[in-house]
Amino acid sequence: EVIDAAGQILLPGFVDLHTHLREPGREDTETIDSGSAAAALGGYTAVFAMANTSPVADSVVVTDHVWRRGQEVGLVDVHPVGAVTVGLEGKQLAEMATMAAGTGRVRMFSDDGHCVYDPLLMRRALEYSSSLGVLIAQHAEEPRLTVGAVAHEGPTAARLGLAGWPRAAEESIVARDALLARDAGARVHICHASTAGTVELVKWARGQGISITAEVTPHHLLLDDSRLETYDAVNKVNPPLREASDVAALRAGLAEGVIDCVATDHAPHAEQDKCCEFAAARPGMLGLETALSIVAMTMVRPGLLDWRGVARVMSERPAEIVGLDDQGRPIDVGEPANLVLIDPDAEWTVHAPALASVASNTPYESMTLPARVTTTILRGRVTARNGDVRTPVRCSGGQ
Ligand code: DOR
Ligand code: ZN
Ligand code: ZN
Repeated sequence: EVIDAAGQILLPGFVDLHTHLREPGREDTETIDSGSAAAALGGYTAVFAMANTSPVADSVVVTDHVWRRGQEVGLVDVHPVGAVTVGLEGKQLAEMATMAAGTGRVRMFSDDGHCVYDPLLMRRALEYSSSLGVLIAQHAEEPRLTVGAVAHEGPTAARLGLAGWPRAAEESIVARDALLARDAGARVHICHASTAGTVELVKWARGQGISITAEVTPHHLLLDDSRLETYDAVNKVNPPLREASDVAALRAGLAEGVIDCVATDHAPHAEQDKCCEFAAARPGMLGLETALSIVAMTMVRPGLLDWRGVARVMSERPAEIVGLDDQGRPIDVGEPANLVLIDPDAEWTVHAPALASVASNTPYESMTLPARVTTTILRGRVTARNGDVRTPVRCSGGQ
């Protein structure tokens, strides 16, 4: 097949360190199948599927299932993220070694949505991860500061009568875990940085020689809490949309390399969990199919990153952080390639029903976005082209 790439940008396939695929447990909102299609359309060749499924991905049975199912679908490598504890708010560390040694080869552990708020447990988790050579990803929020909170604590939430969620809930955990990682000689990864203070803390910790990395979501690069005016629960997310000054600091932090990479936190939710009162709605928004366009809008168009920089934050750094050696880098001659082709001049309008995700909770509905993924290639095979996914042809009866 000949692909005409005139005027297009060729980058290594994107790697998403933070995706919620909802399988097993909530297949009514996303499956490994539908999420893989969304990922391929978004330019991704590897995604990391978060552990807060049902059952929780706290055993090799679940993590191997996720990996195998992803390989069967064949559109993107679905790397399982293991839970740090047995059960999401468990008090006992999960068997990370067994998950790391499984077919799914778990390289990153998290407790998404239910942070390890016990500092002693986190310390032990970091020591354990360091001995195994795997990574702990912290979702960074102090639960005792967020009881009942639904939106960023600030003038907007106060005016709208929404219970506020302070920056310190995130920043205190970032600071704490940086120090715990230092003492344990471990690496720690900060998920979805959302405040200016987090950028400063990551910079400070790195200056101290601490092995800390951080990601930012596309929505925290674009949206701020002025979005809450409508009380539309599509804007409810964890961590919450912050203030314009935080958005500016996150963009600058990503441009400078203080924030290592972009990760979507793709969080599909059912209609009934989003079309209720703001306080009762579930937090989270779709992200896989719109990520590149939001990065183009917030970073490339304003001159904060060039396309080389996009390769760094969407492919190379995320691959390095989890030690994927077959992703996120230039290809040697003869090697099967993971690639994405982008039309930088294209514009498209987001319509939720046209997205591959089962859920439709995109905050960008009806917005016209710049830049579009035209082709995604996984190990030399086209997985998405001009808005259509191409599932691998399988021989019937064989193997
Ligand atoms: O908004 C969010 N939703 N943030 C998370 O980290 C978890 C996610 C979910 O699972 O829905
Ligand atoms: Zn989270
Ligand atoms: Zn998440």
